[in-house]
Amino acid sequence: MNEGIAWSALGLGVLGWTLPRAWRRLQLSRAKHRSLAGHARMAQRVARLIPGYAYDEDRFYAVDGAPDEVAARRRAAMRRLEALYDRRFARGAALTAQAREGLSDLQFTGHYRVPFQFSPVVRAHLRTSSFVARAWGVMLEDVDGNVFHDLTGSYGVNVLGVDAYKACMAEGLAEAAAVGPILGSYLPCVADNIARLKELSGLDEVSFHMSGTEAVMQAVRLARYHTGRRHLVRFTGAYHGWWEDVQPGPGNPLPPRDTYTLRDMDERSLQVLATRRDIACVLVNPLQALHPNRPAPGDSSLVDSSRSAGADRAAYAAWLKRLREVCSARGIVLIIDEIFVGFRIAKGGAQEYFGVQADMVTYGKTLGGGLPVGVVCGKRALMKRFRDERPADICFARGTFNAHPQVMAAMNAFLRRLDAPEVVALYAGLDARWNARAARFNAALRDAGVPVQVAHLSSIWTVLFTQPSRYNWMLQFYLRAHGLALSWVGSGRIVFSLNYGEADMDAVTAKFVAAAREMQADGWWWHDPQASDRTIRRSILLEMLRRKL
Ligand SMILES: Cc1ncc(COP(=O)(O)O)c(C=O)c1O
Repeated sequence: MNEGIAWSALGLGVLGWTLPRAWRRLQLSRAKHRSLAGHARMAQRVARLIPGYAYDEDRFYAVDGAPDEVAARRRAAMRRLEALYDRRFARGAALTAQAREGLSDLQFTGHYRVPFQFSPVVRAHLRTSSFVARAWGVMLEDVDGNVFHDLTGSYGVNVLGVDAYKACMAEGLAEAAAVGPILGSYLPCVADNIARLKELSGLDEVSFHMSGTEAVMQAVRLARYHTGRRHLVRFTGAYHGWWEDVQPGPGNPLPPRDTYTLRDMDERSLQVLATRRDIACVLVNPLQALHPNRPAPGDSSLVDSSRSAGADRAAYAAWLKRLREVCSARGIVLIIDEIFVGFRIAKGGAQEYFGVQADMVTYGKTLGGGLPVGVVCGKRALMKRFRDERPADICFARGTFNAHPQVMAAMNAFLRRLDAPEVVALYAGLDARWNARAARFNAALRDAGVPVQVAHLSSIWTVLFTQPSRYNWMLQFYLRAHGLALSWVGSGRIVFSLNYGEADMDAVTAKFVAAAREMQADGWWWHDPQASDRTIRRSILLEMLRRKL
C-alpha cells in the first residue's frame, strides 16, 4: 500500500472512530439537565467558589429591603421566639450544646438548617434541642417534656407508626436472644424473610446488608460484574446514599468517575441508553416522581420561593415503562431503589405503585423493623457472585454484620405484620386517602390566607411557598414552637407515618395554620411588590461576587 493510501485509510479510520464518538458525547451532553444538579463537575467547582459570609443582626432582619417597621417586628418576634425556646427547650438545648462539641454530625446539621448567610444569627438566638425522651402513636416527647406531632418519619423508616417498630424490635431481640451476636450462621426466620421478599419484589434471590448505601453499592457492583460494563446512570437530583459513585458533585470530594447523571423523564436520556455500550445499570429513586430533576428540598437551600414539586403518577409510570423497555433491549440492569418509598407508597413499593418490574431492587429503612438494614433483591443471573467457568473471577461483597440475628428477627416481625388485618387496612385506598388529606390541608392554608401550600407523593409532603421571600426557612422554627417536629432538613420533607388518623391530621393542620399565621403576623413574609424569585437570586449572586472581589 503506498503512503498516500495508507494515510487516507488511517484518516478515514480516525474519522469513523471519532465521529460516532463525538456524536455520542454530544448526545450525552444533551441528555444532561441544564441545571447545576445535572452537571456534577461544574457544580462541584461552583460550590468551591461560593464565599463564606453571614449577615449581621441589622442586615438579617431587612436583607429583602423591608421597611424599618417590618424589620422591628421581625426582630421582636425573634426575641419572643428566643425566650420561648430558652424556656421550653432548656435541658435539650444544653445537652445539644454539650454533645455538639464532640459530635461532628450535630455541628453539620446545626449549621445547615437554614441558608448559610442567616445561620449564625439563627444559631445565636434559637437554641434547639436534638434530644428525645419518648415516642408513641404519632407523637414525640423531648427531654424537656414537650410533646410534638412527629412529621420526621425518622428519615422514612417510620411507615407503620412507632409502636409497630417498638413491637418488631422487642420481638426481634427476644427471638434472637438465645444466639446473641452469633454471626455467619442464620436464624431460622431468615428462610421466611427470603421467601417473603422474593414474593414482594417479584425477584429470585436476596442479599442482606447493613444500610441502604451498602445495598446500592452491592447492586451496582453486581450489575458491573455481570454486564462487564463500567458506567452507571442515575437521574438528576436523585439520592441513593452517600457512596462516591452515586453522589457525584457537591458533598463528595472526589471528581465524578463512572457515573452519567441524566435528565429524568426525558427522551434524550433514553437515546443515550439506547446507543451507548458502556452502561451497566440505571438507578431509579422513585421519590423523584415528586420533584423530577431536582435534589431533595432542604431548607438550607431555601433562599427564595422557587421550590417546586408535584407528582404525576401516570406520567412517571409511563416513563418507567419506557425505561424498562430500553433497558431490556440494551441489556442494561434496571435497579429500582425502593429504600425510601418501599412499603410506603404501596405494600409492593414503587414497583406496584407505578406498575414496573425491575431487574434488581434495593430496600432498607423500614424493612429492618426499626433496626438498620439494606437489602438487594435481584434476578438469579444478576445475583450470582462467582462464575463456574472462571472460578477466580468473583464479585466479592460481604459484611461482618450481614444477616445479623436481631435484625433478621425484627425484619421477620415487620414482614409478618404486613399481613395483619390492621396493616392491610392501612394500605387499602392509601393513595386516595393521602390525596384527600393533602387537598384538605391546602384548602385550610388557602382559607387562612398564608402563602404556603404542600405538594405530595402519598404520605411524603413538601412545603411550597407562593410568594417571593427570603425568610421561608423561618417557618420550621414556628412549626416547632407550635408542636410539630420536623427533621433537620426542615419544611422540604415532611414524612407522615401511615397510622396518622383523621383526628391527628386535623390537629396537625390546626397547628400548621396557627404557626404560618403567626409567622405572617410577625412580618417575615412582607415582600417588595417588585421582588421575584429571579431578583432575589440575582441579589444573592451580586452579594457573593462582592464578597469574592
Ligand atoms: C432512595 C435512597 N437510597 C439510598 C439511601 C441510603 O440509605 P442509608 O441512609 O440507609 O445508607 C437512602 C437514604 O435516605 C435513600 O433514600
